Amino acid sequence: MDKRYDDNIRLLLVDDEEGFRAAIARRLTKRGLKPLQASDGKECLDILGQESVDVVVLDVKMPGMSGIDTLKVIKQAYEKIQVILLTGNVAVTDGVEGIKSGAFDYLTKPVEIDHLVNKIHQAFEIIRLEEEKQTELEYRAKLEKKMIDTDRLASLGTMSTGIAHEINNPLAIINESAGFIKQVLNSAEMVKYSQKDILIMAAEKIEKSIKRARNITHQLLGHVKKPDTKLSEVNLKALLYETFGLLKKDIRDKQINIHWQIDKNKNVIWSDPYQIRQVLMNLLSNAVHALPQTGSITLSTDEIEKDIILEIKDNGVGIPKENLGRIFDPFFTTKSFNEGTGLGLFVVHKILLNLNGKIDVTSKVGEGTCFQIRLPKCNKSNG
Ligand SMILES: Nc1ncnc2c1ncn2[C@@H]1O[C@H](COP(=O)(O)OP(=O)(O)O)[C@@H](O)[C@H]1O
Ligand SMILES: [Mg+2]
Repeated sequence: MDKRYDDNIRLLLVDDEEGFRAAIARRLTKRGLKPLQASDGKECLDILGQESVDVVVLDVKMPGMSGIDTLKVIKQAYEKIQVILLTGNVAVTDGVEGIKSGAFDYLTKPVEIDHLVNKIHQAFEIIRLEEEKQTELEYRAKLEKKMIDTDRLASLGTMSTGIAHEINNPLAIINESAGFIKQVLNSAEMVKYSQKDILIMAAEKIEKSIKRARNITHQLLGHVKKPDTKLSEVNLKALLYETFGLLKKDIRDKQINIHWQIDKNKNVIWSDPYQIRQVLMNLLSNAVHALPQTGSITLSTDEIEKDIILEIKDNGVGIPKENLGRIFDPFFTTKSFNEGTGLGLFVVHKILLNLNGKIDVTSKVGEGTCFQIRLPKCNKSNG
């Protein structure tokens, strides 16, 4: 919420004496406050039901619903509204009762206009402080959520790498065994065996499923640093070219314009090329996938302080708002079983965490998506 200033205090003046009310309203208007007006409690509540109001200046003695009763209803229904009571000078007890019922303050009639204006500003100050506190709380809640997510993804990352590693061994054994079964079935002594073809088909099904499971474990393990990997100079533009080469198969049927906006002076970092290639691969393949038959991908780099920023922007289908918070989650995918595993961005996030980088995304459905990655020009840790 934007900070609000005194010149947009929304004020409501409630008094049954029309002459008095009009005179006060005129004098308030001269001082830059433009009050709405009501002639009794009921009208006051009607207006509050339709308009947002910050401060109500409320006469206590009114026919029908009394000022105190109106005050009680206001405080119950609209917690934030501040109420200033106007009491007759012989009815101070009304004012005291009003404060007990939640009024901000009371003034006795006849009203000293400057005094009233001061009170209105004081009441508004309370509202403003409350709003600021609220905004800060919301901001903190958001920050916290982001931190929790990062933590959660990081521990999921560690866990999934462990699981992928454990699963790889049995997968290899199953794969070998399926191959062995096929080999036996294809041997000379099996020529006359009537179930042979069905069994070969079953073994092939096993092999196909293993392929998919391997695809998953490889994605999860793909970034794991090989023991001999060294940090080295990474030329982002060259790596992007190379990655597009690997994506030829996916690009084949599409007409994609690639706009290179890469400054050769803001293009080289010191990092782990193997892991960076995986990041680029995952982001570019998503971008290509998001494009319809024709589309464009814009690649640009920039430099902020000690970091290089790389933006990968496509004008594809975009990501609906409700998915934006989930795309980095493992196994979140909107693609079909054969097209996606939902691990691409999870792995990207994990790698960037390893390499002291970060990633941000902005997207609009029907317009496209922009992933922005930020990496230190010189990564000191070994990732
Ligand atoms: N450039 C993009 N444009 C539109 N949607 C995207 C883009 N990148 C990622 N997404 C969305 O995020 C999801 C998760 O992506 P990812 O983790 O790479 O898994 P996968 O590509 O296997 O589905 C995708 O299924 C897609 O819905
Ligand atoms: Mg993907």
